[in-house]
Order: sequence, then C-alpha cells, then structure tokens
Amino acid sequence: MTELFFDDIVYTYPGVNAPALNGLSLRIGSGKRIALIGRNGGGKSTLILVANGIIRPDRGTLRIDGAPVDYKKKGIYRLRERVGVVFQNPEDQLFSANVYQDISSGPLNLGLSIGEARERVEEVAERCGLTALLDRPTHALSGGEKTRAALAGILAMRPEFLFADEVTNALDPWIRIQVLNILDSWAAENHTVVLSTHDWDLAANWADEIVWLEKGKIYRQGKPEEIFPGGTQPERYRRDG
Ligand SMILES: Nc1ncnc2c1ncn2[C@@H]1O[C@H](COP(=O)(O)OP(=O)(O)O)[C@@H](O)[C@H]1O
Ligand SMILES: [Mg+2]
Repeated sequence: MTELFFDDIVYTYPGVNAPALNGLSLRIGSGKRIALIGRNGGGKSTLILVANGIIRPDRGTLRIDGAPVDYKKKGIYRLRERVGVVFQNPEDQLFSANVYQDISSGPLNLGLSIGEARERVEEVAERCGLTALLDRPTHALSGGEKTRAALAGILAMRPEFLFADEVTNALDPWIRIQVLNILDSWAAENHTVVLSTHDWDLAANWADEIVWLEKGKIYRQGKPEEIFPGGTQPERYRRDG
C-alpha cells in the first residue's frame, strides 16, 4: 500500500521567528478524500509545499512508502511523478500559451512521447470539461476554467497523491461542484486527494477524513463525525488562542 508520511516535520520560513510547521506528523494512505482545515496561518499551504518537495523541511523526514525523499534532482523528479500539487492561485501554475500545451507539458517532462502525451491530454481534458478549450490561450480562460486547466495539468501526470490548495474557494457554486466532481473521480480510482479548505461544511460533507492543523501541528484528525460531532456551526468549537 502506498503511503506518504510526514515524519515530525519542522520548517521555518527564512527571516521568520515562528515555525510554519512545528513537529507535524501525518500519515496519508491511498484511496482517500482528505480535507485539510484550520485557521489562516496554521500551516496548510506549507504542508502542501512540503508534500511535493518544493519546501525541504529543516528537520524531520518526508517518506514515501517508508523511504525518505531524496532531494537531489532525480529524487525530486520521482517524488513529483507520484505527488501532484495544485496551487491556490491557478495563475501560478499556467505557463504555456494555450491549454493543450499547458496540460501536455507535465507528461512531456516525465519523458512520455508526443503521442502518449496527446492521449493523456485528451483523457484529462474530457475528465475536466476542457475538450472544447484546448486551443484557448490560457490568459483568455475564466477563473473556473483556469482552475480546471491547472488541475488537468497535474492529473495528466497521474499522481497517486493529489494535493489541492483551496482550489474551490473563489469559485461559484456550479464550478465548485464541477471541481469537486473531478476530485471525486480521481479519488474513486484509488488515488488520494487532499483538499485544503476553510469551508467546514464542505470538509464535513466531502471528506472521508479531516485533518485539522493549528500552529503548524495536527490539532485533530478523524472522520467528519468525530471532528464535528455537533455539526459544523463554528460557535460550537470556539477555542482560546
Ligand atoms: N512565503 C512565506 N514567507 C514567510 N512566512 C510565510 C510564508 N508563507 C507562509 N508563511 C507563514 O507560515 C505560517 C503558515 O502559513 P501557511 O502554511 O500559509 O498557512 P495556511 O495555508 O494554513 O494559511 C504562517 O505563520 C505564515 O505567516
Ligand atoms: Mg494557505
């Protein structure tokens, strides 16, 4: 069974006093929908950047199937074949002139042939509702289309672990459903999807498991009914600090 293990991770951004991740340990198994929640600054985005090796922890170890990640070029490349990250702002992710080129760049970087990359693009374009938009310049996409294009570019690499950082936040309810359906379809094929969100109702209704971060550590982790036993009204969970 595949497992991504954040083993006692500590990370402090340069020039900052407090650690963003402060001894965080988390095991993520396969085939689950996991919601990552917690207030602003709790460490969600940093955890996601650790997941695919963009951030290398100061202390602790990221392990995949038990083996520590190797941060040399080849090791990072192997990690990113298996762990995909969709950033909060899709603009940070879309670099190519048009949607087709953007989605195909990941598979081509993995060393697939042009023909294989084309198959991947066609498959994820269909999954993400982008088939009619493949020739569209990326700058001419709407917000929801940009999110779906960024997602498609990562899915084209077929990540076993897909991390999506607040991708549903800025979307209208219809597009949000589309994006959640895409995430669900990926999870249903025995991949793991980790979605960070501020929306407790979404977390409770969508996730198999909730991971709640506070101050760079796990505050709580469990099934939605264990995390929100009395429903998701925030006043039930008011805390100090
Ligand atoms: N680029 C950065 N430079 C310095 N500090 C940062 C940077 N990004 C995040 N932080 C700090 O790291 C902590 C964790 O932030 P983050 O991982 O973005 O939390 P979340 O995504 O849960 O809001 C916060 O204290 C935040 O201010
Ligand atoms: Mg964040």
